[in-house]
Amino acid sequence: MAKRIDVNGLNAYYGGHKAIEDITLHVEPRSVTAFIGPSGCGKSTFLRTLNRMHEVTPGGRVEGEVLLDNENLYGPGVDPVQVRRTVGMVFQRPNPFPTMSIYDNVLAGVRLNGIRYSRSQLDDLVEKNLRGANLWKEVKDRLHKPGAGLSGGQQQRLCLARATAVEPDVLLMDEPCSALDPISTLAIEDLIDQMKSRYTIVIVTHNMQQAARVSERTAFFNLAGVGQPGRLIEVDATDKIFSNPSEKATEDYISGRFG
Ligand SMILES: Nc1ncnc2c1ncn2[C@@H]1O[C@H](COP(=O)(O)OP(=O)(O)O)[C@@H](O)[C@H]1O
Ligand SMILES: [Mg+2]
Repeated sequence: MAKRIDVNGLNAYYGGHKAIEDITLHVEPRSVTAFIGPSGCGKSTFLRTLNRMHEVTPGGRVEGEVLLDNENLYGPGVDPVQVRRTVGMVFQRPNPFPTMSIYDNVLAGVRLNGIRYSRSQLDDLVEKNLRGANLWKEVKDRLHKPGAGLSGGQQQRLCLARATAVEPDVLLMDEPCSALDPISTLAIEDLIDQMKSRYTIVIVTHNMQQAARVSERTAFFNLAGVGQPGRLIEVDATDKIFSNPSEKATEDYISGRFG
């Protein structure tokens, strides 16, 4: 079930370098929030703190809290592997397992959860998630062919099917369309629109038209200068951010003055 995210006073470091500072942000369930801001302002770093992927990087460390329906992901005894199952992620470059079949790609996460399913349950899971990713019709006759044989846009939809198959509560997407052609981009955007009734979705995008098309709320991040940590400048309704932002830096960024 879609969950609410509350981030309070979050800092994230790479060794001694503080990459993001003092971020407080609230995300409603069953909504799409876009993260925008210039390259290097910490959007990806912040996204990865939301499912404890940041600490996988050597030296990666976090201060502050991230609550998922009031449970702190960084609380004592919380298993980061379980967190990553609950908070799924889709990356910039589609990364299906290339030699694994389409069918097995969808189940790659499911097979790690230790539950034994019958063949027909697995078939149903594959069909349901490929349908959910709007990919079923295109691949139903070649489910046992390698994932690498698909186009980039199809591979990204396959990654979405893999992410949803484990039934996450939240879906994080880091520039999921930046390696895709315009048609595939629209297909992913349509899919995000359909999925938001079931998930809490956070998407990083450098494409401001995309943020305007897919999100209800937009968070603008920026850094004060080279080597300075990124900060959340403002978060508001997407319409407001793109028409009448409160902060001058947001105005300058959305009007193309920097970034
Ligand atoms: N693996 C890493 N090791 C060290 N520093 C990193 C690493 N990844 C990102 N950074 C630094 O963290 C800051 C934020 O980067 P990033 O989160 O990738 O920004 P964005 O996604 O907004 O472009 C940058 O200064 C970047 O150089
Ligand atoms: Mg990034």
